[in-house]
Amino acid sequence: IEQAEAVFVIFGSTGDLAKRKLFPSIYNLYRKGNLNEHFAVVGLGRREWDDEKLRTVVMESIQEELGEQRPEVTESFLKHFSYLSFDVTNKDSYSELNDKLHILDETFQIPGNRIFYMAMAPEFFGQIAQSIHNEGLKDTQGWTRLVIEKPFGTDLQSAIRLNDEIRQAFSEDEIYRIDHYLGKEMVQNIQVIRFANAIFGSLWNNRHIANIQVTSSEQLGVEGRGGYYEKSGALRDMVQNHMLQMVSLLAMDVPLRLSTDDIRSEKIKVLRALRPIVGESIKENVVRGQYGRGEINGQEVIGYLEEENVSDSSKTETYVAAKLMIDNHVWAGVPFYIRTGKRMAVKSTKIVVEFKELPLNLYSKENKQTGPNLLIIHIQPDEGMTIVLNGKKIGSADTTPVHLQYRHDSEDRFNTPEAYERLLFDCMMGDATNFAHWDEVSLSWSLVDAISKAWSESGEKLPTYRAGSMGPKEADELLEADGFSWWPVEEM
Ligand code: BG6
Repeated sequence: IEQAEAVFVIFGSTGDLAKRKLFPSIYNLYRKGNLNEHFAVVGLGRREWDDEKLRTVVMESIQEELGEQRPEVTESFLKHFSYLSFDVTNKDSYSELNDKLHILDETFQIPGNRIFYMAMAPEFFGQIAQSIHNEGLKDTQGWTRLVIEKPFGTDLQSAIRLNDEIRQAFSEDEIYRIDHYLGKEMVQNIQVIRFANAIFGSLWNNRHIANIQVTSSEQLGVEGRGGYYEKSGALRDMVQNHMLQMVSLLAMDVPLRLSTDDIRSEKIKVLRALRPIVGESIKENVVRGQYGRGEINGQEVIGYLEEENVSDSSKTETYVAAKLMIDNHVWAGVPFYIRTGKRMAVKSTKIVVEFKELPLNLYSKENKQTGPNLLIIHIQPDEGMTIVLNGKKIGSADTTPVHLQYRHDSEDRFNTPEAYERLLFDCMMGDATNFAHWDEVSLSWSLVDAISKAWSESGEKLPTYRAGSMGPKEADELLEADGFSWWPVEEM
């Protein structure tokens, strides 16, 4: 078993992310033996908690999220947790933390390895990183790494500023920018499906692929995060990171090796080849929408404008669909359609690769039962893949689409604790492959900025869609203009 010995310093340990994702992930790593007795967690926060209080919260979190009910296991785990009430703007807090880290190194025999995890309001990330450096918290015998949660900036300019700040304190290879989609099982499987299968290797280009569709729909609304979401919207919240990451993985060239640098550099090339969407082309290539009232699983739900902390004249988009073109030799001419939204009919993240039709299909003339070959990658909630072929209808002369299905057991992964667990483990092992490199972050902000700027300047109303639908009709027209349509992921 691969193991790491380190102290986790969690900024924002009293928050939601720590409770829902981080504590359960650390617990699972411990339970599976990836963390032995040589680890410790220091929770930081403004509140006047103590060790006992933090431990109680950690215990509740692993009971609630993982159903762990064995007191003896929990007890030995909780011993590793301590709490420091912390003021991120005060030097004394950092020296107190430094002393604490040395004590923990000694108590648990940890060789000075430290993971600083930023799970709090992003406006402090830069300042904290610099103080960690300036106050000597990086002067240790072991390694130090910085994990940064999204949002990494709110546009290119603020992202550059933030990056400059943290780069004064940490080098690029010490920085782990989390995109939790990269920790999902089936997102990680994209490259295996592509690069370990001869049948796809030779077909994965503009000669054989007609278009690729990436859908990530949610049934949830903004869930009390109206304040954050008003400033963000679906474009920044989902497209800038998760959606573009999936597109990069789908479109990247075969890397030389499976090394972090080789993989990242291929992904970066995709983003560099993305055709900028600016000026007039925004209207032609991007659709936004906002949910109105409707029904989710038979329950009536309110529209976005009625949500808490949302302005009643808000023009924040809760849905985005876009057509992306990748101007390189392999992908010229192949649209990548993406769409994501809140309060849609289903919770589903799926990729559909639609292959070109045969130039001459003997069977498509007499009856219309043949369709294009598809490869569907099911990211969540179900995990697996489907290949759609044409076959003969048994006992008849007709043809019919045949689905070759593979699913693996996936428990309820809606909250994706496994993704966090995997990514934390990678960070402990020093593997940054599944984290966003600065070049990826900056390139994706460039694409997104032009669009959000145009939207914020435009006086146009944005289309609404009924809660519980698959988005505004404009998104259907986006594909129809090219002679395609969305494959109905809600039925797949
Ligand atoms: C987060 C967004 O990054 O991803 C949320 O901020 C969104 O708004 C979430 O709900 C979706 O993640 P998942 O793993 O549930 O698909």
